[in-house]
Amino acid sequence: MRLLVTGGAGFIGSNFVRTTVAERSGVHVTVIDSMTYAANPATLADLVATGAVELVEADITDATVMDSLVSRLTGDDDAVVHFAAESHNDNSLSGPWPFVHSNIVGTFTLLETCRRHDVRLHHISTDEVYGDLAVDDPAKFTEETAYQPSSPYSATKASSDMLVRAWVRSYGLRATLSNCSNNYGPYQHVEKFIPRQITNILDGRRPRLYGSGANVRDWIHVDDHTSAVWAILDRGETGRTYLIGADGERTNLDLMREICRLMGVGEDGFDHVTDRPGHDLRYAIDASRTREELGWAPLLTDLREGLQHTIDWYSDHRDWWEPVKERVEARYAATERVL
Ligand code: NAD
Ligand code: TYD
Repeated sequence: MRLLVTGGAGFIGSNFVRTTVAERSGVHVTVIDSMTYAANPATLADLVATGAVELVEADITDATVMDSLVSRLTGDDDAVVHFAAESHNDNSLSGPWPFVHSNIVGTFTLLETCRRHDVRLHHISTDEVYGDLAVDDPAKFTEETAYQPSSPYSATKASSDMLVRAWVRSYGLRATLSNCSNNYGPYQHVEKFIPRQITNILDGRRPRLYGSGANVRDWIHVDDHTSAVWAILDRGETGRTYLIGADGERTNLDLMREICRLMGVGEDGFDHVTDRPGHDLRYAIDASRTREELGWAPLLTDLREGLQHTIDWYSDHRDWWEPVKERVEARYAATERVL
């Protein structure tokens, strides 16, 4: 089996690649990644050096490169797994164009290439396409929830999902989609909530909570996202959308306090800072259909334990994140104000 993994040098893509290489010896993995600021060359270095993974540094909007890579996928089970995207909401607010470029034009380029070569595609998306929920809403997002994206990030991801669905219906493209909740784990960029707070504490800086911290996110360990994507590749039905989540809802305030506790700083050892404009209040995924139909279940459901592993990973891998930390914090400092 051959897989072409777009965005495989980023957080979730690289975890997917690492697990795949370790657990699926019959799978040949090629990664295409344009190595944006979000990709760290060290992330896949060991797998590339041993030849376990082929890394092609190119942009997914480059139709010529895409054509040559996708044309190699000639087996019935071969597939493109599409992680590549601009992924950070805060960046989408300050500069939306790269999000339109990678998330919409990139997905379009990929769809046309897969259509030309009749190659299977699995498109990775987010629960943020559904907009947000009230904190006390008993409902969670389901496959039927209407799209109502709030930010340039979620709007471009929603657009890419719509393109994939149209290519399935209009051209019979063999595609599946998945919308997953907030991921955490190793190799996540330090601009994101959990690694930012962990590395702030490791670096002697104060963690930063947007606004009151009442916002709720539904956390899943990245390894559980990987196992769900494999369940879809193995048993998913063409044209279907699968929701992926692990019932991991927490307010940002609770999560911040947990990180502070685990890292031995006072529970209130953080700053409240300027809130994100248009900040979505709550995300929550109902993944019951994915569980029932694919026989999938998340394994790392103890968030405290998962956080401890993640803290240990960032403590043990300072070389991986230290080179970019100062730049990320300088960028936040330009707009962030302590409340
Ligand atoms: P990330 O920012 O860590 O990684 C994205 C990768 O894509 C980077 O390596 C980057 O260099 C690459 N890339 C971006 N534009 C590209 C282009 N035009 N051509 C080639 N490569 C390009 O993001 P992530 O958190 O790993 O997210 C991966 C996917 O999962 C995204 O599609 C995202 O929308 C989705 N997702 C993320 C989360 C989350 O919590 N992080 C949750 C659900 C879904
Ligand atoms: P983030 O990791 O950016 O993911 P998303 O916007 O996709 O949910 O942020 C997660 C939550 O944490 C979100 O509600 C914003 C908040 N947040 C903070 O409170 N402080 C921070 O420093 C960051 C980066 C995010």
